[in-house]
Amino acid sequence: MITGATSGIGKELAVQFVHKGYIVGLIGRRTERLQQIKEELGDNVFFRTLDVRETDKAKKTYPELIAEMGGLDIMILNAGVGIDKLLPQWERDEKTIAVNVMGFAHGAHFAFNYFMKQGWGQVVGMSSIASLLASGRAAAYTASKHFVSNYMTGFRQKVKRIDADITITDIRPGFVESEMTENNKGMFWVATTEKAVRQMVKAIEKKRNHVYITKRWRLVAWVAKLVPQFVWDRI
Ligand SMILES: NC(=O)c1ccc[n+]([C@@H]2O[C@H](COP(=O)([O-])OP(=O)(O)OC[C@H]3O[C@@H](n4cnc5c(N)ncnc54)[C@H](OP(=O)(O)O)[C@@H]3O)[C@@H](O)[C@H]2O)c1
Repeated sequence: MITGATSGIGKELAVQFVHKGYIVGLIGRRTERLQQIKEELGDNVFFRTLDVRETDKAKKTYPELIAEMGGLDIMILNAGVGIDKLLPQWERDEKTIAVNVMGFAHGAHFAFNYFMKQGWGQVVGMSSIASLLASGRAAAYTASKHFVSNYMTGFRQKVKRIDADITITDIRPGFVESEMTENNKGMFWVATTEKAVRQMVKAIEKKRNHVYITKRWRLVAWVAKLVPQFVWDRI
């Protein structure tokens, strides 16, 4: 199952997994897009319209979609928002926290419990290289991605302690072409969606704990961990 599957990374994940023979369940708010993707990709695609902020509805929607798909092996929590410049500052932050933190955490919690009952499974979270860096221009976004990565680390520790057969994969992309980034300025090393997702699919299938997408962003992660905060504050 892939949340946020109507565009960008989520849609391309659906395309590449279907081409590999997987049965894929799509989640997003734009029903016409979901219908269109199903028409393009065929019978192995199922979908439900859902706003991941509506956690009460999600509690019913996820099991319904899983039943239609005939089971669940991998839950990819990809739905996310960037900086909505049309909203005033607090509403902007509130939306980011509601989708990227609450919607994500609820999905992760659901998937973890489902896989605990099942005895195996894989939870994949779409974090970001931004999880490693605070930013005055995108405080809520960077903090939300820090939450995603930290939450997944906590789940991974829990899995290890109880020796469960559940993989927790934390994906940390740099810049990737998508609707979220189409009007961004000052980006570098921007990967095509196809290339970025090819590397993500490989990491998911290899059951990796963490991966930077594309690979060269490991360098930025390494620098981010070494450079002291007071230096970042001046950049
Ligand atoms: N592109 C990058 O450079 C980059 C870098 C690092 C991390 N990421 C992360 O990658 C993920 C995918 O982003 P993208 O770049 O592919 O952007 P995108 O094209 O804007 O895709 C975002 C997806 O999330 C869905 N979504 C947004 N709010 C939702 C909600 N409330 N409920 C359900 N679905 C919702 C959207 O679907 P609907 O509008 O139909 O609901 C859409 O399918 C995000 O978590 C983002 O933070 C992206």
